[in-house]
Amino acid sequence: MKANDIQELKRQALDEAAAAPTADALEAVRVKYLGRKGLLPDIMTGLKDMDPAERPLAGRYANELKQELGDTLAVRREAIEAAGRAAHRAPFDGTLPGNWRACGSRHPVSQVIEEAVRIFHGLGFTVADGPDLETEWHNFDALNTPADHPSRDVQDTFWLNDKTLLRTQTSPVQIRVMEGRRPPVRIIAPGRCYRRDTTDATHSANFHQIEGLYVDRQVSMADLKGDITHFAREMMGADVKVRFRPHFFPFTEPSVEYDFSCHMCKGAGCRVCKQSGWIEISGAGMVNPRVFANVGYEPEAFTGYAFGMGVERIAMIKFGIEDIRLLYENDVRFLEQFS
Ligand code: PHE
Repeated sequence: MKANDIQELKRQALDEAAAAPTADALEAVRVKYLGRKGLLPDIMTGLKDMDPAERPLAGRYANELKQELGDTLAVRREAIEAAGRAAHRAPFDGTLPGNWRACGSRHPVSQVIEEAVRIFHGLGFTVADGPDLETEWHNFDALNTPADHPSRDVQDTFWLNDKTLLRTQTSPVQIRVMEGRRPPVRIIAPGRCYRRDTTDATHSANFHQIEGLYVDRQVSMADLKGDITHFAREMMGADVKVRFRPHFFPFTEPSVEYDFSCHMCKGAGCRVCKQSGWIEISGAGMVNPRVFANVGYEPEAFTGYAFGMGVERIAMIKFGIEDIRLLYENDVRFLEQFS
């Protein structure tokens, strides 16, 4: 045998491997050349009887044969298997039912927030943001809340340490915004709030508010009433009624609480509004000059209004939800009704 014969054999082997139509045929090629009684082991044994001058070259060719045939066999095996998989794929059946994909929907709380952002955007408000973990300064002191005010009590506030707490209201965002920029200011701030409330049908230790703040040179209580009423009509429908009742907050003076007429019973009385025909939304008022002083705004030069809104309360009357807890259970059967 000559070195060139080995080259010729290699060419033949590679052709056979590349043309093998089935896995069995391919295996036969492998056995024929590389098997224990195959042609290659024969060649290897024959090397020692060869002309010493040709032996190194013949050895190299033999190794190349082994290597390249191995590669070609692997490539061909993969191709045969892929073709087999394709052939076994079930033919398309247009009558089978489609795959059902569980598709989520916007949570009612998110829907109310998004709608409120849209409505206030139309009045020139932008969205501001603050942290859930607040300082005592932002949540209480700067908002003119006296040191002995009951809302600071451990019974109402989740304190993390002496100075840090989970915000009990979105009002601290008012402070953060005013500390950071000069009037005019017109922002709303939706976000989570936390209070040590015992959970029942209308209370939750974790709820959402939307804060509003408008500061400029001539802002009046009439602006506050007009804007909240406009909001209520956009959110609930043109026939909603809004009522303002005198109240007290340390950070507004004068202060009000305000209610929307119940969207479910149109004021007649139902379970959602607890038969009163009204739902308390939250508080509002004219920014207390002491708050302006705390953030470095000149109290003689500026006036402003601020309001809070209970998002869950709005969602409850808007969608007729009788129990606030339904909003947190994440039962899909409940949530998919709002998609
Ligand atoms: N922060 C008050 C509350 O949570 C609501 C409020 C906001 C009142 C802004 C007045 C002005 O009850």
